[in-house]
Amino acid sequence: MGSRVQRAGVDGRFGRARPRDARSQGGTVTVREALRDAHATLAIAGCGTPRLDAEVLLAHALGVRRERVALDGGLTLAAPVKRAFQQLLRRRAVEREPVAYIVGRRSFRRLELDVDARALVPRPETELLVEVALTLDPGARVLDLGTGSGAVALALKDERGDLQVSGSDISSLALELAAANGRRLGLDISWLRADLLRGVPDEFDALVANLPYVAERERVGLAPEISRHEPLTALMAGPDGLASIRALLAQVPAHRRVQMLALEVGAGQAPGVARMMTDAGFGSVRAERDLAGVERVVVGERVRA
Ligand SMILES: C[S@@+](CC[C@H](N)C(=O)[O-])C[C@H]1O[C@@H](n2cnc3c(N)ncnc32)[C@H](O)[C@@H]1O
Repeated sequence: MGSRVQRAGVDGRFGRARPRDARSQGGTVTVREALRDAHATLAIAGCGTPRLDAEVLLAHALGVRRERVALDGGLTLAAPVKRAFQQLLRRRAVEREPVAYIVGRRSFRRLELDVDARALVPRPETELLVEVALTLDPGARVLDLGTGSGAVALALKDERGDLQVSGSDISSLALELAAANGRRLGLDISWLRADLLRGVPDEFDALVANLPYVAERERVGLAPEISRHEPLTALMAGPDGLASIRALLAQVPAHRRVQMLALEVGAGQAPGVARMMTDAGFGSVRAERDLAGVERVVVGERVRA
């Protein structure tokens, strides 16, 4: 413990470790106490994963990895760190800001992506879309349509360097974020601004898309993290949640080069989307389930004309 105190004390983030009987003196607080109080605050506020959130936010305030806060529970927090942690907690508990926006990072597949309110926080289930596209032929040209933070396009390029990957979005703000992620990660992606396939050349062998799929009637039930902070244009898709997918499927037949189309969908939407895909000329259509067993990605293939 002594060496950890010394090491941590050097950079001013931690104070000294306190003897047990000093708990009530001087308004200082240990890592363990700060976590316990934060856990209670976040649980009362209705946050779904209060312990995890508390650890991630405290690690962020300290500028250390999360494992470290679990190991160094007896150390006291330096006053500026304590204040910074209180501010982060307020954002989380009162404003219900997603942890990923507060810390500015989210992991996706093998990548650490910068994230902020310009784009949706990438979700774990979207990793399935990447897995589906990993089966593409060598050198295939693939477009991640509605790329947001760039998550799917970047993960694909990272794991399949041979693919020619592009990412498009209707939102120029999202594209700024995606392009910045691409530069920071050193991944070569072409970014284009487009409303679905309008003006997009017919040069892609595959389209992958996690387009908005929340139905208007579901809006009132959205968690505050989503409804208050994430861009509504990334979420809402008309009365039945299928407006974006329907519009895309009306445009796809003109893109004769496309052999594979993979669409992420909401729970219960897969059968309807599969029918629409068949109507759009895809001969072989299947649904892939995510880790929760939900039919999450509908995949259609067609033979090149
Ligand atoms: C559900 S988010 C997905 C973001 C990202 N692909 C991900 O999985 O994290 C949907 C994205 O589609 C974009 N989008 C919505 N309507 C669009 C349209 N008509 N054309 C292109 N992109 C659109 C939104 O701006 C948003 O970035």
